[in-house]
Amino acid sequence: MVAVCRVEELPPGESTRVWADVAVAVFNADGEFYAVDDTCTHQDASLSEGFLEGCFVECPLHAAFFDLRTGMPTCLPAKRPVRTHPVTIEDGVIHVHVTANTSQQSENAQEQEAVA
Ligand code: FES
Repeated sequence: MVAVCRVEELPPGESTRVWADVAVAVFNADGEFYAVDDTCTHQDASLSEGFLEGCFVECPLHAAFFDLRTGMPTCLPAKRPVRTHPVTIEDGVIHVHVTANTSQQSENAQEQEAVA
């Protein structure tokens, strides 16, 4: 579990990035908090620098959209989901509970090695 910031420090429509074994993007989508892996599954863009629309984030590099509730891309060029992570609020502080599944990271690493 990683502490992100106080609730009032991440107002609706804003995002931030924390390090929790991997970079994690945390969003306040109209009062609902979501956390996903920060790195877009298409290339290496930071989703925390993307554009939040409701509970969707648009990648800042090639405009793929991801559903923050599921991590699924809703349009190309991204084809694979980003991992989602549970978020809790404790004593006014946002916490991210990073998902242990690393199979997706292994796939990403293998693809990057294949491209290199
Ligand atoms: S890096 Fe995100 S859509 Fe290309």
